[in-house]
Parts: sequence; C-alpha cells; structure tokens
Amino acid sequence: MQPSPYTPGEVANTVPGRAPQIAEFDERLSLLVDLHRFIGRIRVDRAPRGLGKTSLLRQYQIRAKERGVLAVWVTAGEDVGLVAQIASAIRQDTQTWRGETRTKLHKMLEALTVSVGIPGIAKVDATIRRQPVETAPVGVREFENVIRTAAGSDENTGLILLIDEIQAADPAGLRTLAYAWQHLQAEGADVPAAVFAAGLPDAPGKIASVVTFTERIAYRPLQILTPDAEEIAISVPARKIGVTWQPDALHEALEIARGYPYSVQLIADASWSAAGRPDPGATITLDHVRHGGEAMKVDLEALFRARWANATPQERELMSAMAALGDAAVKRSDVAHQMNVTTASLSMPRARLIDKGFIQAAERGELEFTIPGFAAFIRTLDD
Ligand SMILES: Nc1ncnc2c1ncn2[C@@H]1O[C@H](COP(=O)(O)OP(=O)(O)OP(=O)(O)O)[C@@H](O)[C@H]1O
Ligand SMILES: [Mg+2]
Repeated sequence: MQPSPYTPGEVANTVPGRAPQIAEFDERLSLLVDLHRFIGRIRVDRAPRGLGKTSLLRQYQIRAKERGVLAVWVTAGEDVGLVAQIASAIRQDTQTWRGETRTKLHKMLEALTVSVGIPGIAKVDATIRRQPVETAPVGVREFENVIRTAAGSDENTGLILLIDEIQAADPAGLRTLAYAWQHLQAEGADVPAAVFAAGLPDAPGKIASVVTFTERIAYRPLQILTPDAEEIAISVPARKIGVTWQPDALHEALEIARGYPYSVQLIADASWSAAGRPDPGATITLDHVRHGGEAMKVDLEALFRARWANATPQERELMSAMAALGDAAVKRSDVAHQMNVTTASLSMPRARLIDKGFIQAAERGELEFTIPGFAAFIRTLDD
C-alpha cells in the first residue's frame, strides 16, 4: 500500500498546464534578480475557486526563493489590514538576518505598524475612505521605506510580495500598496521589488473601486486545464511511484474532471483509494475510476452545497434555469426564456455569479458553470 500522491484541497506539488504563467514569472524574476529592476506592474492571476491560483502562487514563491529573493506570502482578508500583514510577514521572514540591516529594517517595520495603527484597522479604514482619492494614504512613506530596505540589503537579492485572495484585501491596504508602487515606479527603478497576486474573478472590480491607477495592474485569467495537462497531473505522480493508469481509466478520469483542477485531484485520489492504494507495479483500471467517481461525489456535494448556500434567491433562480437546460454552455436568451423574463433583466445576477466564480461566460456570450457537475447537483435539488 502506498499513500496517494494526489492533493485534493491542498496546494499542488506541481502545476502542469501553467507553463505560460511560470515563463512570464521567470522573466520578471530575471529582470528583478539579474538586472535589479523594479517591476512596476502588479500581476494578478484571477479565476474562480479551485482553479489553482494558490498552487501557482506557491510555485512563484519557490522559484523566487531559489534565486535568493525574499519572497513574502500573505493571504489577504484576515482581521488585520494588508499592510500590517505584509509588515508582519517581512518581520517573520527576516528573523534570521543578522546585524545592522535587520535592526534597521525591524525599526522601519515598527514605524510602519504604528502609522497604519494596529489593531484599529477598521477605524483607519473609515477615515481613509472619506479622503479624496488623490491624497496619499496613511503610512505610504513608511511602507516605501520598508520595501526599499527589504529589497536591497546584503542579505538577499530583491523582494517579491505574494498576495493571495487579493479581492479580500482592505481598501486602505490596497491604496497604500498601489500608491507605493506608483511612487517607486517614478523614483525607484533600481529597487528590485515586485508584487504577484491571485484573486477571484471580482478582483478587478473591487480593486478599481478603491484605487485610481488600475493600469498598473495586469489581470490574467487562469483557465481550466487542457486534456494534456490533466493527463500529466494524473499519470506522472503515479508513474513516479511505479503505478500505471490504464488508458481507458485515464480517459474516464478526464471525462469526470473536465479540466477543473480540484476535480482532477479528487477523481485521481478517489481512484487511488478504490484501487487499494496500489503498490509499485500495479495498475489503475476503469473499474477503479468508476468506483472513485461515486466516492468523490460526496466531496463535490459538500462544495456544491456551500456554493448554493452562498447564493441569493435571484441568483439561485438563474442557476436553476441554466441547470434545467443541461450541462453544456447555454445561451442567455434561452435562460431568459426559461425564466420567463427579458435577457436584460438577467444582467445583475449574472454579473454577481460571475464575480463569485460560480458561472463564467463561454464562447459567444453563452453561460456555463465553472465546476463540472454543478448543474446536475442543482437538478437534484429541484426534484
Ligand atoms: N496545475 C494543476 N494541475 C493539477 N491540479 C492542480 C493544479 N493546480 C492546482 N491543482 C489542484 O487543484 C485544487 C485547487 O488548487 P488551489 O487551492 O491552488 O486553487 P485556488 O484557485 O487557490 O482555489 P481557492 O479559490 O479555493 O483558494 C487543489 O486540489 C490543487 O492540488
Ligand atoms: Mg486559493
């Protein structure tokens, strides 16, 4: 018996299918490390839940660390604001630094923390939102100092901030970050620093509502996996420990997962269990995948229930109408017809569902669910 090499619900060990993102990251990394350049554009990979954002961001972090960069991770949206989170992450990750640089940096972090005012973030927030947009946010100077010092010390080469769930960041924190980046771009082209972030599809809207210079931010939608990438994600981890997927088993797994990374891990993992956690030399068969498919339904259903609970009555109505039309992408006019309303009246719930990452626009403006199997789940509710 061998433990499963798959990672349902956990950060993926490898990210097949993400070569374009990694290549672009590596290029930025080289600009930063080799040419000591400031990376003025903040890149945000955005996608619905379960598409592999966190896993991709973790790969960036690994690659940055390999090159001696201070690669600081924050998951936005906890009780403290973004800037305070970044400050405490930098402090944490520079504990092992020695001598003067550390003393200097930690003093600056202290000054920053005081100026953004922990723990009264909510209070600071409210005052900032009332300020005219052009006013520099509280703590921006201190934040810039921290970035400069953490990026260019004798302990490391450069600084990369990795921000997960950026759509959940506090407005004040986003403004400070955007201002600092704007300013450093103008003045600090030799500060080797960069920001890479990940967020839900509504990230652009949320960010645009609090900062003005959004052209500083490049959003990249993360797509579902191609069949080739899925095949690699399923076969390679097994092969590495001596287990082979039969071609028809693999084909069935691809049919079930349909390119959705979370489902890829779920079906592969469930099939692995159904095969009795195979030893080296064993194979995974179609039968195992069919059994696995039954078992994974329980996990998927939990996810579906959570999503359903998160939708308003109007949103549910739209999703029910979509589900009633089948599993494939559906025309907006057909959905409207099904609901007995005009196409125009769908635009609000449609936009909100796309923001939440439940549905997405397919080709020619058709709508489809982001997770395979959601339509079938909704139909069982309607019964
Ligand atoms: N390139 C990939 N190939 C195969 N599986 C992947 C890939 N990327 C991520 N996964 C798997 O998909 C699932 C979701 O990954 P991850 O948590 O990174 O997604 P996410 O977009 O951050 O999700 P959430 O929005 O819920 O935080 C995990 O089980 C992970 O192991
Ligand atoms: Mg994530």
